[in-house]
Amino acid sequence: MKQRIALIGLSGSGKTTVGKLVADKLGWRFVDTDHEIEQQTGHATQQLFVEWGESAFRAKEREVLGQALHAPNTVVATDGGMVEDAANRDLLGSSAFNVWLHAPAAVLVERLRALSDQAPPARFTHLQQRRAPFYTALADWMVATHVRTPHEVADDIVDGYRRSQQKHDDTLRVTTPGGSYPIYLNAGALDELPQRLQEAGVGGGRLWLISDEQVLPLHGERVRNTLKNAERTVQSFAIGAGEGHKTLQTVEQVYDWLLRNGVERGDAVLALGGGVVGDLAGFVAATVLRGIAFVQLPTNVLSMVDSAIGGKTGVDHAVGKNLIGAFWQPRLVLSDTTLLQTLPPRERVAGWAEAIKHGVIGDKELFAALGQHSKALLNGEEPVTSDLLRRAAAFKARIVSGDEREQGERILLNYGHTVGHAIEAESNYTLRHGEAVAIGMMAAGTLANAFGLFPDSELAEQRALLQAFGLPTCVPAGMNIQNILQRITSDKKTRNARVRWVLPRGIGKMIVRDNVPHNVVEVVLSELQEQDHSVTARS
Ligand SMILES: NC(=O)c1ccc[n+]([C@@H]2O[C@H](COP(=O)([O-])OP(=O)(O)OC[C@H]3O[C@@H](n4cnc5c(N)ncnc54)[C@H](O)[C@@H]3O)[C@@H](O)[C@H]2O)c1
Ligand SMILES: [Zn+2]
Repeated sequence: MKQRIALIGLSGSGKTTVGKLVADKLGWRFVDTDHEIEQQTGHATQQLFVEWGESAFRAKEREVLGQALHAPNTVVATDGGMVEDAANRDLLGSSAFNVWLHAPAAVLVERLRALSDQAPPARFTHLQQRRAPFYTALADWMVATHVRTPHEVADDIVDGYRRSQQKHDDTLRVTTPGGSYPIYLNAGALDELPQRLQEAGVGGGRLWLISDEQVLPLHGERVRNTLKNAERTVQSFAIGAGEGHKTLQTVEQVYDWLLRNGVERGDAVLALGGGVVGDLAGFVAATVLRGIAFVQLPTNVLSMVDSAIGGKTGVDHAVGKNLIGAFWQPRLVLSDTTLLQTLPPRERVAGWAEAIKHGVIGDKELFAALGQHSKALLNGEEPVTSDLLRRAAAFKARIVSGDEREQGERILLNYGHTVGHAIEAESNYTLRHGEAVAIGMMAAGTLANAFGLFPDSELAEQRALLQAFGLPTCVPAGMNIQNILQRITSDKKTRNARVRWVLPRGIGKMIVRDNVPHNVVEVVLSELQEQDHSVTARS
């Protein structure tokens, strides 16, 4: 990523005015090379050019340009003649996104006349002709300035730069009717938070950081410092950790905190944590003041590959999980994989269950890669961890981009969740969400197998992969099967009292069925139940 923009073009084309605006819009530094030379030497550039001669002057320009381009996140306005020098062109070409501000010579002459009573040199048209090939060769983007306001030109440049970055880097994107937003997933992503917020249009207002009691002490300081260094105002609030706190009572506590501290429409909620924090903070953002901007900063495997992406937000109700909520897309998802270092092993394992799910429902290669690297992933080794998290996140991004409201393919993401949610609740949330989903995938896989849809060998492959990650594959001993069945029918994914089952026909191939007989489910769950050896031994 270049992270540097250079404006090239003849004098009068508006490089300084537009450059400052572009820098403001991106939250970057602005450098005008002419101004810099005058600062360093104490003389006007025209004077130096005459006194030193062209080659010494261009050498000084090169030095200043090198200094300007040294730091990332910089917009540079160059002198119109800089491109005449081959070494300067090389420097610009290798380190900046070059934008040619273009206008007909006649327009430029008029502009310069208006600026000073000295008529610009008659050779202006000639200069234009001589330099145009250099500008054309160098330009990554060209903007005609005479038909637009400086703000429009600056917007056009920012747009061009972003497009070029999408081509050159591998930023993931979700595009839905409810919003389009980037997903950054890499080690150290948090360092770029202030800039990413700017780019995502979360520029002006105050920031409200919502986290939980476990994550905030570990990583809150890092987030706050990054933001404070960029002069952003941020306040934080920790909810209790764990599923038990994903409730309307907690939502009310957060509303109290926000409203009593004067939250405003232009502010943004940042969610720093796992799926519970993300779901709850997203719901708060969707509803407080009828909805304010929302940013996901996921901190565990589950949230990075799944819950932070797609805009489903909400809380649990005594009747069942996620029964109250809203679709509310984040403006930005920023996943810093260095945060995973503090993850308890059990959480890390549970999170990978959702990535395995993505493999089973539609990405055979991901499924295979997870099997190949399971040990390295459990040790948190890089770059394989970031690579596979990104791959699993990309899968989710692709599915939700095509189906924001779960009218089509998105339902596939519920694989393993019909039984999973029921078991998770029935365990009183002593099972991790991912663990319950792993059992749920075994239940759905076994059901599909019982109908002759899912071959034995692939069911065995699924079991082996879950086990390689240390995930459970059986219904816990002693869990009441009737209660599980009861909970399945009250799950919200029921349409007209029919349960919609997502079933595999093979790794990477799924179907949805709503005619699965209750008694078959019962048989499968009983078969999958772990035997309680302590009881058998005594009896
Ligand atoms: N919105 C969606 O599309 C979606 C998708 C999947 C799951 N979910 C929801 O996500 C929830 C489960 O998410 P979860 O398992 O992340 O739960 P969670 O948010 O409770 O996180 C699990 C535990 O890990 C801790 N933790 C998180 N990051 C940590 C870190 N870096 N270091 C140390 N500890 C850390 C948390 O404090 C918590 O105790 C469920 O409520 C589920 O319904 C939502
Ligand atoms: Zn899930």
